[in-house]
Amino acid sequence: MSLSKAASSKVISQKSIEERLQIQRLVPTTRIVKSNAGSDVIKGLTQTPKTLPPAYFYDDRGSELFEQICELPEYYLTRTEMAILQQFAGEIAKITGACELVELGSGSSTKTRILLDAYQQLGYPLRYLPIDVSAGILESSARQLLVDYPSLQVHALAGTYELALTQLLPTQLPSRMIGFIGSTLGNLKPQECDIFFSQITNALQVGEYFLLGIDLQKPKHILEPAYNDRQGVTAAFNLNILEHLNQRFEGNFDTTQFEHWAFYNETENQIEMHLRSLRSQTVELRALKLSVNFAVGETILTEISRKFDLDTIQKQLTTWGLVPLHVWTDPNQWFGLLLCQLQA
Ligand code: AVI
Repeated sequence: MSLSKAASSKVISQKSIEERLQIQRLVPTTRIVKSNAGSDVIKGLTQTPKTLPPAYFYDDRGSELFEQICELPEYYLTRTEMAILQQFAGEIAKITGACELVELGSGSSTKTRILLDAYQQLGYPLRYLPIDVSAGILESSARQLLVDYPSLQVHALAGTYELALTQLLPTQLPSRMIGFIGSTLGNLKPQECDIFFSQITNALQVGEYFLLGIDLQKPKHILEPAYNDRQGVTAAFNLNILEHLNQRFEGNFDTTQFEHWAFYNETENQIEMHLRSLRSQTVELRALKLSVNFAVGETILTEISRKFDLDTIQKQLTTWGLVPLHVWTDPNQWFGLLLCQLQA
């Protein structure tokens, strides 16, 4: 009898999770991807120097590797931002009041828990809209959150944030805050930032909030090890982009014939991550009808990770109509968290 009671209560709580969870898949089906997508890959691999869009890092394996990077001793970014959030999430919640949390590139949503705790402590309703290209991680982390926060509602959007930001329905709470934490802004080129910020400001109403986490400029001897960890996880993450292309576009990249190379470009204030060809080779991507020649030592730029100056970024945010209300940082001033509000 006790067994059936336990079983039925399990069914009830399962049901209530299903009721509180909505997953919207914005990514096109595989068939459409194969016939339409990949023009960005063709463009990147046929130009000199060769490049690849960093979005291709994040298949399920790449997202897992990125989670591992966040735990690395050399990768100070995640734990520093987490410490700032832990210290100031209460202040953020007090400033914004009850609001729907939208998170771009949510991954495992670990940092979001700190914000959810703060809003919960103030007795605010919890509504969370995670956006991520990895549907697998999105669903598993949403389910875990729903177990841990019994009043939480989740509307997950699986797809790129460009697509997701245009599909947000009007908020059901008094306000909305879009969070772009983890310094992912640093992975956008300056020209891409203009487009990105117009998408953000279109998705917000005047008076709503934007929470931005950014990695700050600091000496090379701290930055470079963060992208050249001793366990080789960042190297595996970088090389996985080739595996992803193989799988997605019927490619034959041999990852043993490329090596990871990352350094800090002090003129541009950015880490640059490359893959270097270890020999002269030709790679085919059959689904794209693309054949690419590599000279020995030739590189593919896979990612930039810009490091910011707090005064400059605040001025830029203001020009985009996002006025910084508050800036928090850590004792070393390694990382910054900015709460902005959309002005008329
Ligand atoms: C996601 N992004 C902020 C990371 C960064 O630090 O630029 C991606 C990364 N690349 C290598 N390590 C981490």
